[in-house]
Amino acid sequence: MNTPTVLVTAATGTVGSALVPALRSRGVTVRAMTRDPGRVFPGAETVVADLREPESLVAALKGVDAAFLNSPSALDAAALQIRFADLARDAGVHRLVLLSQYEARADSPVRFLRWHAEVEAHVEKLGLDHTVLRPNLYLQALLAFAGPIAQGWFAAPVGDAAVSAIDTRDIADAAAAVLTGTGHSGRTYTLTGPRAVTHHEIAAALAGATGRDVTFHDTPADQFAAALTGLLPPWQLDGLVEDYAHYARGEAAEVHTSVTDLTGQPARDVTDFARDHATAFAAAANAS
Ligand SMILES: NC(=O)c1ccc[n+]([C@@H]2O[C@H](COP(=O)([O-])OP(=O)(O)OC[C@H]3O[C@@H](n4cnc5c(N)ncnc54)[C@H](OP(=O)(O)O)[C@@H]3O)[C@@H](O)[C@H]2O)c1
Repeated sequence: MNTPTVLVTAATGTVGSALVPALRSRGVTVRAMTRDPGRVFPGAETVVADLREPESLVAALKGVDAAFLNSPSALDAAALQIRFADLARDAGVHRLVLLSQYEARADSPVRFLRWHAEVEAHVEKLGLDHTVLRPNLYLQALLAFAGPIAQGWFAAPVGDAAVSAIDTRDIADAAAAVLTGTGHSGRTYTLTGPRAVTHHEIAAALAGATGRDVTFHDTPADQFAAALTGLLPPWQLDGLVEDYAHYARGEAAEVHTSVTDLTGQPARDVTDFARDHATAFAAAANAS
């Protein structure tokens, strides 16, 4: 019997790069999607396709049993994901697993959460076996702050609010379980870390793992935005500020057991993340 083929979009991305080996270890045929023809995924097929080029997606989806849908943050992310979901249905894909976000809601003040809610609502109507994963803030997002962390600090407009941030390796393991298991059709899983942590506690974990002083500074939203002006497009910067306001209101602190329920393993703690990425933070220190 042929093993099922699973297509992983954004396979070089934060979650996708951990999902490809997680699926491989479960014995399925993995088709890893990238726009880069030079990329090789050990043990997996590579397919070159672009969410903005539907013909490339039709080819990528041929013969696929299940697909993991994730796109990078983009102004047209909802439209791109909706088109991909339609093409997946047309291609006869049996199962679609959608990467959404914690608290996705049509009436959210956070634009990214509204966009995710729009895609979720569309996928629900397609009649496919589908599952929605709603992860909270990625711990791996801290790697974007590796430069300042190497200097001993990082800053964000989040105050003392706790966030049940998650290690993206756990999102990948949960996605692999859903893509290859049964009983998940029509379900929505909120994915979090094992506890809610403040950014001061994150700083302490990074300090403990790297052996360097790391301090977190709460910063007003306008100063945070000013520091990033020119580095991100305005819509993305505004969305990021909305994300942090949502965290600062304490709206992202619930802890869910979905990672353990799906994978049989406890979700990784911030101290695990910090230990496993200490070298990356140290490399940033050596480069600065
Ligand atoms: N960051 C967080 O804390 C967080 C929390 C919850 C949910 N999320 C959600 O996660 C998603 C984004 O995650 P991320 O920023 O970490 O990105 P990511 O998953 O790392 O995605 C980046 C990847 O997307 C691929 N890509 C870029 N443009 C593409 C295109 N036109 N067609 C096909 N593939 C394309 C790139 O692969 P190639 O260059 O190889 O093609 C790249 O590796 C968003 O939906 C966001 O809302 C994020």
